[in-house]
Amino acid sequence: MSARPPGPPPTALPGLLRKLAVDRLGMMRDAAGLGDAVRVAMGPKKMYVFNRPDYAKHVLADNAENYHKGIGLVEARRILGNGLLTSEGDLWRAQRRNVQPAFRPGRITAQADAVAEEAARLVALLRTHEGDGPVDVLREVTGLTLGVLGRTLLDTDLAPYGSIAHAFEAVQDQAMFEMVTQGMAPLWLPLGTQRRFRRARRELTRIVDALVADRSSRMSDGEDADDALSRMILAARRHADPRTGRRLLQDELVTLLLAGHETTASTLGWTLWLLAVHPQVRSLVREEAREVLGDRVPGAEDLHKLTYTAQVVQEAMRLYPPVWILPRVAQRADEVGGYTVTAGADVLVCPYTLHRHPEFWDDPERFDPGRFDASQAASRPRYAYIPFGAGPRFCIGSNLGMLEAVFVTALVTRDLDLSVAAGHDAVAEPMLSLRMRGGLPMTVRSAR
Ligand code: HEM
Repeated sequence: MSARPPGPPPTALPGLLRKLAVDRLGMMRDAAGLGDAVRVAMGPKKMYVFNRPDYAKHVLADNAENYHKGIGLVEARRILGNGLLTSEGDLWRAQRRNVQPAFRPGRITAQADAVAEEAARLVALLRTHEGDGPVDVLREVTGLTLGVLGRTLLDTDLAPYGSIAHAFEAVQDQAMFEMVTQGMAPLWLPLGTQRRFRRARRELTRIVDALVADRSSRMSDGEDADDALSRMILAARRHADPRTGRRLLQDELVTLLLAGHETTASTLGWTLWLLAVHPQVRSLVREEAREVLGDRVPGAEDLHKLTYTAQVVQEAMRLYPPVWILPRVAQRADEVGGYTVTAGADVLVCPYTLHRHPEFWDDPERFDPGRFDASQAASRPRYAYIPFGAGPRFCIGSNLGMLEAVFVTALVTRDLDLSVAAGHDAVAEPMLSLRMRGGLPMTVRSAR
């Protein structure tokens, strides 16, 4: 017989709701403290939080078809429309199948060269700040991830579209605002967030239309293109209803731009910050980079040799998973680990707390890349670590994201000493991705 998971007493609910607005990570930690399965009831609304590898496996993989995207992403749909991150069912399947070839492993050599070039350019740019005051390294790595995305998946130089990152900040603010207000505030309200969002949406529409026009003008009819953008353009041309095809193309492109740069930039920001505050680990990364690469930039063949650097990136994503929450909605009643889930309930799997579960992670708050050496990793349940999600909605860009994070970490650490600006505290800000509040101001010196 299945049981109802425990939950906070009704008197704790106002405090919990306040935390939803001001301290979402604290709220998830509180929930994890109550148990591995927690149920929160707010009138007719039910929410379940599952914080155990086998529960995550059930929701995200084994019975994935019962769980559609939920809180936050549903609201984000008002912004991202029906792109790959938010679409469901047959539409999602068709979109995923269409762009998948752009991510195939065979493209990794070309992608590695593009990433290495952008990484070298980043090092050169950071060097120009040597001896100056702090530079916002998060802003610079965000520029890099957009540049890589443009070159590897869109066959386009995104440099002329500098306002993309700024526009997405307004989109994230809006998505969180909608999550907190449960999508009940109409978009036309004269609030600062809403106004910024409307402006950002217009700007993004202008940008994606320009990107599509530019890429289309370089395609010949029937071209067998293999970058993601040309594949999306060809799918739109084949659509039975041209207007719907055009709208879906806009949604897909905005989604890819967002999903493909924010997460990797967040990974890099947290990794470079952790290395700055753990100089011994930084020395080991530097040693590996010098041993494997000497003075040259990396190529695809170096990826599997930069093993310690990869462990550092993995450990950074354990402590600061860029996608800190995976929200779902149960389509039908279900049972998870012996607990009942009612139809229509919100179901949350939270990588941020799962990656700190004391049963699977020894001294979970400690930064220790050694956790990801082969022997230790093999002794852990697979679903104890899910920075790229799991099941059919597993991140389509995980290889590219890892490639960028490892190459950039290796090159920046080999060549530079980055120190966090005096007085700056790194604070995690859980938006659609886990951002760094106030960016990452750092001073730059050449490494010896
Ligand atoms: C370190 C970097 C990255 C991390 C940590 C990350 C994480 C994730 C996670 C956790 C999901 C699953 C979301 C869910 O199940 O609700 C996801 C989905 C997705 N990611 Fe990534 N991602 C990264 C890089 C990338 C890159 C480089 C791209 C390239 C364009 C990308 C594109 C996507 C897309 C399109 C989806 C939706 C896939 C689908 O639902 O079929 N991501 N990502």
